[in-house]
Amino acid sequence: MLRRRTVLASMAASVATPALAQSYPNKPITLIVPFAAGGPTDVVARLVGERMGKELGQQFIIDNTTGAAGSIAVGKAVRAAPDGYTVQIGHVGTNVANGTIYKNLNYDLLTDLAPIARLPQNPMLVCSSLQVPAKTLKELVEYLKVNPDKIPGGTAGMGSGSHLGALAFFAATGTSYQLIPYRGTGPAMQDLVGNQIQVMVDQSSNSLPQVRAGKIRAYGITAKTRSNAAPDIPTAAEAGYPMEVSIWHGLWAPKGTPSEIIDRLNKAAIAAMQDSDVRHRLEDLGQDIPTPAEMAPAAFAAFHKEEYARWKKILEAANVKIE
Ligand code: MLT
Repeated sequence: MLRRRTVLASMAASVATPALAQSYPNKPITLIVPFAAGGPTDVVARLVGERMGKELGQQFIIDNTTGAAGSIAVGKAVRAAPDGYTVQIGHVGTNVANGTIYKNLNYDLLTDLAPIARLPQNPMLVCSSLQVPAKTLKELVEYLKVNPDKIPGGTAGMGSGSHLGALAFFAATGTSYQLIPYRGTGPAMQDLVGNQIQVMVDQSSNSLPQVRAGKIRAYGITAKTRSNAAPDIPTAAEAGYPMEVSIWHGLWAPKGTPSEIIDRLNKAAIAAMQDSDVRHRLEDLGQDIPTPAEMAPAAFAAFHKEEYARWKKILEAANVKIE
């Protein structure tokens, strides 16, 4: 009896998939964003989601699910129905570093989600509030050295991009600052502008607008070369402390989402990245846009696996973990 039921269930599933894919999408799609509104991940999510929605003829509804540096949001995506109506945007922190840092994650970042497409990546800016008495990166390092572990700095939690940026900064400068966790670097940036915190290494898409508005100070960009979006900001190496960190984003669906649906979503993501207005707005924020080949699900999955192994080595060497 059991075997017959299993055969019937698998037949039903195989019949349902083409029908599901043919009518897809016939209702709005939920886009889970692991950080608070207004931060760099949210900015990418809304830009990409809006354009993908136009491509697919259905609205992308943003669901900002915060906490534990994005690992709560990823868990929500893992448990969602694999029907194409829930997707998750994440990055090298939420979908890579957290897999090494959090020992009690109840999912596998490499196998419990289906890759849809790689999304843009951006370098980070070493920033301070305007009240910090430093005009160069060397002076900032001196300020931190004479105030060991006393200067409040912002992150979006252990494993977030701003945490990875802080770790790279500590390693490059031999200094450290207090890691105060926020639900995203959107709210953290508000406190940096207000001098409630004084330092942050944050993605260019979030920090560059504040630098341009004269509300915070930037000392260096964590890239090999200066950004076309901010040619007057030196690289961290030019400023005396070589460090390179790039926060890439990606789009995933729950494991088991039909490949026809993954393909529809991937093509819509590529269309969004090829849209001249979306490209201009992202590049103006210092984002580098991946090619359609790099965005392909298989290429993205291979990249994800490489990054997972690379960051696992870095984080284990730095003994960064949460039991
Ligand atoms: C955000 O969107 O708030 C950032 O991606 C958080 C982070 O990873 O630093």
